[in-house]
Amino acid sequence: NVLILDFGSQYTQLIARRVRELNIFCEIYPYNNPPEDLSIFKAAILSGSPFSVRAEDAPHPDLSQIRGKMPLLAVCYGAQYLAHFSGGEVAPSNIREYGRANLSYIKRDEVFFEEVNIGSQVWMSHSDTIKALPENGVRLASTKDVENAAYKIEGETTYAIQFHPEVYHSTDGKQMLENFLVKIAEVPQSFTPNAFVEDIVAELKEKIGNDKVVLGLSGGVDSTVAAVLLNKAIGENLYCIFVNNGLLRKNEFDAVLHQYKDMGLNVKGVDASARFLDALAGLEDPEAKRKAIGRVFIEVFDDEAHLLTDVKWLGQGTIYPDVIESISVKGPSATIKSHHNVGGLPDFMKLQVVEPLRMLFKDEVRRVGKTLGIDDELLGRHPFPGPGLAIRILGDITPEKVSILQEVDAIFINGLKEHGLYDKVWQAGAILLPVNSVGVMGDERTYEKVVALRAVESTDGMTADWVHLPYEFLMKTSNEIINKVKGVNRVVYDISSKPPATIEWE
Ligand code: XMP
Repeated sequence: NVLILDFGSQYTQLIARRVRELNIFCEIYPYNNPPEDLSIFKAAILSGSPFSVRAEDAPHPDLSQIRGKMPLLAVCYGAQYLAHFSGGEVAPSNIREYGRANLSYIKRDEVFFEEVNIGSQVWMSHSDTIKALPENGVRLASTKDVENAAYKIEGETTYAIQFHPEVYHSTDGKQMLENFLVKIAEVPQSFTPNAFVEDIVAELKEKIGNDKVVLGLSGGVDSTVAAVLLNKAIGENLYCIFVNNGLLRKNEFDAVLHQYKDMGLNVKGVDASARFLDALAGLEDPEAKRKAIGRVFIEVFDDEAHLLTDVKWLGQGTIYPDVIESISVKGPSATIKSHHNVGGLPDFMKLQVVEPLRMLFKDEVRRVGKTLGIDDELLGRHPFPGPGLAIRILGDITPEKVSILQEVDAIFINGLKEHGLYDKVWQAGAILLPVNSVGVMGDERTYEKVVALRAVESTDGMTADWVHLPYEFLMKTSNEIINKVKGVNRVVYDISSKPPATIEWE
């Protein structure tokens, strides 16, 4: 296990992902709240930070249990911190040191830079520079503008680098992390999907024993993988509930319910479409729609959970980025979900929570899913928002609008699959606009709905760009939609990136 101490850098999660790619387990902790027992860690990495070490309110971690006690790699802010407080000097740099740079000097015979050559590209992002190395510091590398781009402390296994090895633009960054973690710190590379499954199943068995667990399936990757792991650990004692809110894709509820049953899950499908659509009737505001859906979901789930007896646990598909967010340097996110605020929690929310995926990143969840034999089609499914088509029908929702949008969406998504484009797109869907436009069909003038198609590429949904789908494909799709879906006479394609737009329209 490797400890990553976070100083609030935007890249901290990337460090963790690079380490995991080496099949090494690691955990991120905020610098001001590290775990008490550090004996389980074989090495530590200090992240970058938006702060200058010279600032009054900059993070001042207590490294007494880390430095000199285990191999340590300090990145960017970490490197400056070690220099500033151990006899070196950090000062504002004269030139802005952002973006690409190349290593113009590397001290040879250093394991840290094995298989890294002069000229290797590294990514800089800092406005302070290390003018003088700390006590016992030995320079290991320089770039044209940054003399102390890397150093080590003589007599310790402490290394410090000014650049960011975790970003792809640092071409040999992963090699350096491997040199540090594997060759220098000798951390075993044993964190594989198979090993994870074995460990977590044993842990779940031990933790849950003969208790019953209830879990809500959504059709998405996370809840599915969480359910399969729990099923492997406790079998029939896992009770899954899959709610149809009437806002899913066309045929999705039946198809996915079928898949779940084929996978051997003990799952109950609950069709609550009418309850959701009733609650949504007349609501136009996006947040009001989201709230209504969230509220009804909790009611439906609570009713179902009450039909089960003696349930002790609530299973959830929470993944690591959510966990990091909730313990981050900045503290738990200010936007506590609205249902936590209303007095009196529903009973199922008082259950103990079990989250088998809480240490995994999304791509790791997919790999674990593959190891478990879950269908590629299910694992490769695009993300789909909880409120479903409700936030893709702008304005108020009626059953007719839902059914129009389901047809349009199905033509678009099936088309992407048939043309081999589905897996090249991160997320796609159709949006029903609240305007009519004039058209002409045969000799008749029409005045019907407009739909927008949206397809984006992204890695995490935080930023996204529209996909340049082939004109040929767009042409065919538009024809098919207008010819087959009654009530639609115009199709437009959304060419906005996020930011400044968002992926969903509401
Ligand atoms: P935006 O529209 O914010 O979407 O760019 C980013 C990602 O989040 C999904 N999304 C939601 N997911 N409940 C969800 O479960 C929601 O209310 C919600 N709103 C947006 C969106 O589909 C995209 O993947």
